[in-house]
Amino acid sequence: MATPSDTASDVGLFDAVVNLCKRRGFVFPSAEIYGGIRSTYDYGPLGALMLRNIRDAWWRAMIQERDDVVPLDAAILTNPKVWEASGHLATFTDPLVDCRRCKERWRADQIEDTCPNCGSKDLTEARPFNLMFKTFVGPVEDESAVAYLRPETAQGMFVNFLNIETTMRRKPPFGIAQIGRAFRNEITPGNFVFRTREFELMELEFFVPPADSPRWQQYWCDERLSWYQRYGIAPEKLRLRPHDPAELSHYSSGTTDVEFAFPWGWGELEGIANRTDFDLRVHQEHSGTSLEHFDQASGERYLPHVVEPAAGATRAMMAFLLAAYEEDEVGGERRAVLRLHPKIAPYQAAVLPLSKKDTLSPLARDVLHRLQPHFMCEYDETQSIGRRYRRQDEIGTPYCVTVDFDSLEDHQVTVRDRDSTEQTRLSIDDLVGYLQSRLGA
Ligand code: GAP
Repeated sequence: MATPSDTASDVGLFDAVVNLCKRRGFVFPSAEIYGGIRSTYDYGPLGALMLRNIRDAWWRAMIQERDDVVPLDAAILTNPKVWEASGHLATFTDPLVDCRRCKERWRADQIEDTCPNCGSKDLTEARPFNLMFKTFVGPVEDESAVAYLRPETAQGMFVNFLNIETTMRRKPPFGIAQIGRAFRNEITPGNFVFRTREFELMELEFFVPPADSPRWQQYWCDERLSWYQRYGIAPEKLRLRPHDPAELSHYSSGTTDVEFAFPWGWGELEGIANRTDFDLRVHQEHSGTSLEHFDQASGERYLPHVVEPAAGATRAMMAFLLAAYEEDEVGGERRAVLRLHPKIAPYQAAVLPLSKKDTLSPLARDVLHRLQPHFMCEYDETQSIGRRYRRQDEIGTPYCVTVDFDSLEDHQVTVRDRDSTEQTRLSIDDLVGYLQSRLGA
């Protein structure tokens, strides 16, 4: 198994990917023209496409390809009693320390007893800092109007358990899955989009008979590890790591993380937690509504236990980019290439007329319009063809389709493969089928 290290090449990789993200429109600092806002990012055209592909890939594996999971899209703002019951108001905290000399604030568990900014050891005692963003609902800003931005999407699924079990005629084992924004007032966000205050979660709450939860937790660990591999991350860059008891969240009896070898070391991509019946139990107690499942076969009533694979979409995007970035040499020239899985890459194909001359444009646009119903495509007619190939390599486009002057006569185009750089000449009529067979559409 690879051991991540702080070597110059790892640091270089991080810088190269961050630079690429800005330069090619994946990720911009938020509101950059106003100087940005710390550790908050906007996803540019390519980032928006890639994030959508990551969501789709997750949705496909977790919902579409299964018959035991249904989706949900719950509100971000909800009744604050949800957070009281779930324990987030009381315990969703990180230990905060202040440096008395430079006034910086740190997470006590992330530093030794020295301020990383000024080196002072004059730090305050650690105190709990709640990570939930507070706001007010309606025009009156008093305590009765307080609401919170959700720090996880999970609670929306627990409070809808009964609605969904009934309307969808489900019984354990079954799951509810959701993708959406989550907000945490992180004390020390950083490492680009690895830790931000606003991020995207992809969560499954899988409800099972209590005795079956260990088996299902193992099942979901294996499934989730193989999902990252299916979409192109090499097995040696991934590992499963069980939490130490001291690390466990307040709701978990056991969590295993899927970790990725980030340039600065192993880092969490996703946690697979056994939440037991913690959440259904507290919501049952606080709401006064029974959330027990009645098993008709055995005549038994019970609170299902929950196994929860919870993944960060924005963090996964960073891992996919880091895993895909390479520099190699083609025809004696250095190139940067993102070897992204075709389903994750922002564009699946680029249509490139060999020359900008008007004679080629109508046919090239016709080729583009044939492809667009099937694939996300870019059309580029600027600069030399070699530079346009490099541009597509750098953003991970798996196939470039070149329309040249012969195309006008023979109705054929050249398809260039990003990874092998091999070129294949084929009929325009066969193009969609050819790309579909290669892209797995
Ligand atoms: N409902 C359980 C839950 O939210 P978590 O481990 O706190 O679990 C799940 O978060 C995933 O969300 C993490 O594995 C990580 O990928 C992502 N994540 C958590 N905090 C994040 C942050 N501040 N910025 C970006 N991604 C974050």
